[in-house]
Amino acid sequence: MARVSPGALKAYIRDDYDAAAPGWEPFMGPYFRVPAERLVADLAPRRGDRCLDLACGSGLVARAFAVRAGAACVSACDFAPVQVREARGVLDAAGMPEIEVRVMDAERITYPPGSFERVGCGFGLNHFPRPLVALRGVLRVLSPGGRAGFTSWGSFSPSIRERFDERLLDLVPAVGESGAGFETALGRLSGRNGRPERIIELLARAGFVGVEHRSHRFAADYVNAPTFVDAMLARAERDLRQANLGDTERAEVREALVADLSRFGRHEFVVRRTFHTVIGRRAAG
Ligand SMILES: C[S@@+](CC[C@H](N)C(=O)[O-])C[C@H]1O[C@@H](n2cnc3c(N)ncnc32)[C@H](O)[C@@H]1O
Repeated sequence: MARVSPGALKAYIRDDYDAAAPGWEPFMGPYFRVPAERLVADLAPRRGDRCLDLACGSGLVARAFAVRAGAACVSACDFAPVQVREARGVLDAAGMPEIEVRVMDAERITYPPGSFERVGCGFGLNHFPRPLVALRGVLRVLSPGGRAGFTSWGSFSPSIRERFDERLLDLVPAVGESGAGFETALGRLSGRNGRPERIIELLARAGFVGVEHRSHRFAADYVNAPTFVDAMLARAERDLRQANLGDTERAEVREALVADLSRFGRHEFVVRRTFHTVIGRRAAG
């Protein structure tokens, strides 16, 4: 297989998150909220600290920062413009219009040096083809003594997710064809840069000090098959669009998935995961 260039891979990731953006908050929000709040708790910002949510998606980390530091001190950015627009809407609806949101590539951070006391990045680092470039940028925008933290996923419990993937591929074979080369490249990138030992190493290489790693557990309750299927379909939106399904076909695919997964017991819809936070500091002097 031809090698996927970092630029092409980033464009693929950006389009993927843009396609998923409208469904992200209702369906994926509950799943990502606990790690976002834990990351911010581990970063421990004080009232008035300037905070950045890097690769913000719908801005869950930004919201958690705002609760502790005050919304006026919080900025957020993501390289996917539709995600940024959605984040703006969600933050306004949450009564946090003061949070500033921008389109920005994490590998080209343009805030002035020393702009933030805290930077939080939820499940973003594993998507950056040049994580060291991003981390050096983060270090530059941190104030002396400031802290940055990154989350990554650990183990994942349920077989229900595998069953969903299998059935979706049976029903819409094009899902497996559209981004296969990119999915492999992204899988490799995430597999490598999502491991906490690797994140620790990258932070140290970028020049962070006092790097600390913590593991956490949580359970996200999707309650039943329809809720679970809707969440997973929102995530697969880009592939579904490329498969060119009409509304009726889409509805049929959804129905077939719900019927299939309804055979699973109630407890299977409680997705248990571990996740990691890795925190580093910019040296004080
Ligand atoms: C798994 S989502 C997490 C979103 C959010 N941080 C959260 O925890 O809910 C990953 C996000 O990283 C963003 N992203 C990926 N690569 C990026 C890059 N190079 N620069 C900025 N954002 C990026 C995606 O657009 C997406 O919104």
